[in-house]
Amino acid sequence: MSINSIILSTGSYLPTKILTNADLEKMVDTSDEWITQRSGIKQRHIAADNETTGDMAIAAAQNALKDSGLTPDDIDGVIVATTTPDRTFPSVAVKVQAELGIKTGLAFDVQAVCTGFVYALSVADNFIKLGQAKNILVIGAEKMSSLLDWTDRTTCVLFADGAGAVILQAKENNDVKENKLDGQGIHSTHLYANGKQRDMLQTSGGVSTTGERGVIEMQGREVFKYAVQYMADVVGEVLTHNNITPEDIDWLVPHQANIRIIESTAKKLNMDMDQVVATVDHHGNTSAASIPLALDEAVRSGKIKRGQMLLIEAMGGGLTWGAALVRF
Ligand code: UT7
Repeated sequence: MSINSIILSTGSYLPTKILTNADLEKMVDTSDEWITQRSGIKQRHIAADNETTGDMAIAAAQNALKDSGLTPDDIDGVIVATTTPDRTFPSVAVKVQAELGIKTGLAFDVQAVCTGFVYALSVADNFIKLGQAKNILVIGAEKMSSLLDWTDRTTCVLFADGAGAVILQAKENNDVKENKLDGQGIHSTHLYANGKQRDMLQTSGGVSTTGERGVIEMQGREVFKYAVQYMADVVGEVLTHNNITPEDIDWLVPHQANIRIIESTAKKLNMDMDQVVATVDHHGNTSAASIPLALDEAVRSGKIKRGQMLLIEAMGGGLTWGAALVRF
């Protein structure tokens, strides 16, 4: 008997406040035209001052739990991907665990910046496949606005806030005999990092250096170049590893940093943009929250249907990158 991890349900949360490109034109020397052409972003959600990453993670998790048919007692793991925790410690995950009334199991945060959700999904998948957990809440939640220098036009127009969640559930996979890939769930995950590139996208401070959280510093053009290369490499690896062709994939669900990076990955896969879940125009770059936010939107709107094959991919600070092949 083999165990697979299926996505039982999805959920998300976006702060009420919307910041448009027109609003940003009043704050820094930029234009709607520049932001739209270079990134594809038109507007983004920004958390209220007293709204934390944990608050957003809890709202997204409650949403996913409601649609799962499970109770808090069924959940035996909470993994939160975040770069912007409420406190240096303890983790956002333990706050989610307590606030949802989950009584047992593991709870911790994963830090891989914009690739965080793919890392967290992979970690949860491995716990489930090893039989160490049955139902894990995997959340991506970020308050990136708290890491922005609002006078730096090269970063403040890009990043945003929000949270998304999935519940991964263990499912016996012995009903699928013909083709293993027909089975529901996560078929493979692929994670990478190149720490030599860590200063390309970083904060200007931290707990054990400056003692302050710092603000985002990004060598945009360089990061863009590697994003295009690494995304092409890793989606190619997913195809080869699973012995499939782009025609076997129904939806590309990419990290939402820049529409030009997304288009380049779709082109590499010979996929039309109508097979790509693109939310960057109205979500902006919400780092680890971007994939589960996009996934939840596409599931709730009826775009993504049960049984369809999803290719999830992300790239971010570290540099880190990764992908997952999932039959929904
Ligand atoms: O999610 C984690 C991973 N992050 C990413 O994937 C982001 C990757 N990078 C990018 O998405 C793009 O590099 C950006 C959207 C950040 C920038 O686009 P670009 O086409 O690479 O522009 P650039 O950085 O080469 O800048 C072009 C020009 C510069 O002026 P000069 O030096 O050519 O005179 C910038 O100073 O645009 C200027 N510029 C702006 N102009 C108006 C930079 N930011 C702005 C702005 N408004 N907000």
